[in-house]
Amino acid sequence: MTDTLRNILSKVPVVPVLTVHGPEDAVPLARALVAGGLTVLEITLRTEGALRAIEAIARDVPEAMIGAGTVLTPSQISEAMSAGAGFIVSPGSTVKLAEAAQHQNIPFLPGVATASEAMLMAELGHHVLKFFPAEPAGGVAYLKSLGAPLPHLTFCPTGGIDAEKARAYLALSNVICVGGSWVTPAAALKAGDWAIVTQLAKECAGLR
Ligand code: 3PG
Repeated sequence: MTDTLRNILSKVPVVPVLTVHGPEDAVPLARALVAGGLTVLEITLRTEGALRAIEAIARDVPEAMIGAGTVLTPSQISEAMSAGAGFIVSPGSTVKLAEAAQHQNIPFLPGVATASEAMLMAELGHHVLKFFPAEPAGGVAYLKSLGAPLPHLTFCPTGGIDAEKARAYLALSNVICVGGSWVTPAAALKAGDWAIVTQLAKECAGLR
């Protein structure tokens, strides 16, 4: 499953982290991002409509690979898979979740912020990890330091990242891609300005 996850995340330099309320806002947003070259999306399970949004994107925007984010429990893994998610993202890294993802045979990107958490996930077979919350936890310098003793682990830093910071993370040898919400500014979403979203997505897609 680590190889499958590596294949998914190596397709794009940036994974937009999206909190949407349902199909109405999710589908045009996904289309705009895919049009700009960002084909791997994380939909957070932080709203009532998130699972319906995943279902609608899976149906209407088949070019998109959808990760379900903010997954906190094993039952959310099953729900996200039924909705059409192709991988699972969590802000943290519990043994229960890691084992449930393995049992369900779905790629899992667990969140870690320390060497111990990263080592525990590696012991359970997860070698591609979300570094979260990237900026508050120590940013580029911290992640570079983790890479020295743990060169076999690969990270997707997320949390507090913008285009400039993304460039610096992407220059590290242990970073496969970065995640973040800066690609979809609230004002553009509110205005339904999908052209701006596509433009920002193109800039992100060109970061590497
Ligand atoms: C996440 O869920 O991964 C983060 O909330 C996204 O972080 P950002 O909004 O700071 O980019």
